[in-house]
Amino acid sequence: MMISRPASPRRRVPDMRLSTLRGMGETAIITGAAGGIGAAAARRLAAAGARCVLVDRDPGVSDMAAAIGGTALVGDLTDPELSERAVAEAGDGLRLLVLNAGTNCADKDPATLDLDRYRAVVGVNQHSVTYGLRAALPVLRRGGGGSIVVTASLAALHGVEQDPIYTMTKHAVIGLVRALSGPLSREGIRLSAVCPGLVDTPLTAGARDRFQAAGIPMLSADEVAAAIEETLRSGEPGTELVVHPGRPPVRYVQAPIP
Ligand SMILES: NC(=O)c1ccc[n+]([C@@H]2O[C@H](COP(=O)([O-])OP(=O)(O)OC[C@H]3O[C@@H](n4cnc5c(N)ncnc54)[C@H](O)[C@@H]3O)[C@@H](O)[C@H]2O)c1
Repeated sequence: MMISRPASPRRRVPDMRLSTLRGMGETAIITGAAGGIGAAAARRLAAAGARCVLVDRDPGVSDMAAAIGGTALVGDLTDPELSERAVAEAGDGLRLLVLNAGTNCADKDPATLDLDRYRAVVGVNQHSVTYGLRAALPVLRRGGGGSIVVTASLAALHGVEQDPIYTMTKHAVIGLVRALSGPLSREGIRLSAVCPGLVDTPLTAGARDRFQAAGIPMLSADEVAAAIEETLRSGEPGTELVVHPGRPPVRYVQAPIP
């Protein structure tokens, strides 16, 4: 059951390393940054002074990186080696990580699931998040802290019948955030998730007209990017931030286990 409550007043994070992340000289990695939410997040972080390393399989990420004065890596994030390369490119100044790359899955019925597509969706939505953490955490620890946001989805918090495989992967990611955010926060590393509803991006472009005709509102990529930036900078570790069109973002609070 999804329960949204107004955001509680933010608790002060006891570890001061988390509150000293703003400023020039820091480096950010943003995955899935060729367009959509990732590109919007990269624009914001670059404008705030971060050196940005953009990663995407879409070669258009190079133009995006050039536009914001960042660096691009083109490749498939289902290969763990790409995350290692991104972290090497970022270097010791790595402080911010936006694990955003993802895609949806057309197959609704496991009985007829295309296994190549299944592996590709799980590979990027789920495994690439683990690969990103695996590569980045040693550098963040060495540097004294950092901040990580995973782009999850409302599908991380409830079952979306139109896309059960996507739902599974986003639930997996939110489970990882729930289990890891506490231990990491004690090391000065903030890990949180942003959970948007429908966003107007290349991912949803094929259905945009139908949503519009049905009067279903969509978020802009920049609205989600703003929520990502805010969560990176000052969200309480373990935040699951629900972002709906036309409303202020609100923290999701789990119902207690009976
Ligand atoms: N658009 C929405 O309605 C919506 C809603 C909730 C959550 N999200 C999530 O937001 C994130 C960003 O999506 P978006 O809407 O900006 O879509 P998008 O398609 O514009 O961006 C996703 C990017 O990830 C890249 N990518 C996908 N698979 C990859 C791989 N294997 N290796 C490297 N790059 C890969 C794509 O090339 C693309 O540039 C995704 O995780 C998505 O699940 C989107």
